[in-house]
Amino acid sequence: MTIQTVGVVGCGLMGSGIVETCARSGYRVVVREVNEEVLQRGLRRVEESMARAVERGKLAAADRDAAWTRIRGTVRMEDLRDCDLVIEAAVELMDVKKEIWRELDALCPPHTIFCSNTSSLSITEQASVTRRGDRFCGMHFFNPVPVMKLVELVRGYLTSEETLATCRAFAESLGKTVVVTKDHPGFVVNYLLVPFLLDAVRALEKGLATKEEIDTAVQLGLNHPMGPLTLLDFVGIDTTYYIAEAMYQELKDPRYAPPLLLKQMTLAGHHGRKTGKGFYDYGA
Ligand code: CAA
Ligand code: NAD
Repeated sequence: MTIQTVGVVGCGLMGSGIVETCARSGYRVVVREVNEEVLQRGLRRVEESMARAVERGKLAAADRDAAWTRIRGTVRMEDLRDCDLVIEAAVELMDVKKEIWRELDALCPPHTIFCSNTSSLSITEQASVTRRGDRFCGMHFFNPVPVMKLVELVRGYLTSEETLATCRAFAESLGKTVVVTKDHPGFVVNYLLVPFLLDAVRALEKGLATKEEIDTAVQLGLNHPMGPLTLLDFVGIDTTYYIAEAMYQELKDPRYAPPLLLKQMTLAGHHGRKTGKGFYDYGA
């Protein structure tokens, strides 16, 4: 099956990166947000990211302009009805995702493939509210999407081989390397990463060292590009809290139980870089 038009639901951190990557690879993209203000903020992120790629000589200005003409923003779910593939990148809450899929299942033709960019939530459970479990899978990108090379393709209980093959070809056409995983909370990467990030918060809570020292220790001692608390700010404190909570509820393994500090920061609106404050301050 040929993919020409891609729908993206959500133009936050991940949605904007997915929109940019698809448009730069030649796909037409329709992206839906909840309201005009959030949509414009997301599209500005796409614009700034492409401007940076042009400045660094990674993207020709003409290619940027062509990619930009392939992107269309909307607040109407109906505008996704002609997409061949829809990638959902809304908040990490099962009820929100199910509501999106119910609506899209009624709007889109049978051939449209549905993919969730979820970090932790069951693909099989999301697919259960649609009549297209065979054309449903997880397509898990990594942040920042234009830079990170991996896509985890998640095989739900009903996902067909044909859907997996189409999605693999699509992800590879974006320049990504694919790893196929089971539909298990956290798939491969977050199954390993989340306990590590939560342990960094617990280390801070216990006062093992300051936040800067914890980050420096991991950055220099393990050669990670970012320390874990900086990475938490980068991923989003709220998103990590939702991921941990979902994984803990499913696995009942205390390694995934979100530390109190993460919950309090989520409730306080200190969501990391995207809100200007998390473990660190990023100004306006
Ligand atoms: N959007 C687009 N491009 C970006 C970017 C962004 N937000 N941030 C950085 N880049 C690009 C830069 O343009 C630059 O590209 P070139 O080398 O082609 O010029 C490249 O990335 C390196 O950037 P910088 O030199 O500015 O900065 P850096 O060397 O510190 O790298 C980084 C930045 C790539 C983000 C690096 O710090 C890194 O790899 N951090 C860890 C990221 C990570 O672990 N991501 C996974 C998070 S977990 C996840 O995504 C799964 C989940 O479900 C939660
Ligand atoms: P974010 O908070 O930056 O963006 C989420 C966006 O979804 C918001 O702009 C919100 O307005 C929008 N949204 C909510 N309901 C919607 C709806 N019904 N229709 C359209 N838009 C809607 O979050 P994010 O970091 O982009 O995460 C999005 C998804 O990607 C989550 O499932 C998350 O687990 C996953 N993910 C995140 C990362 C990361 O590093 N942040 C990495 C991989 C996967």
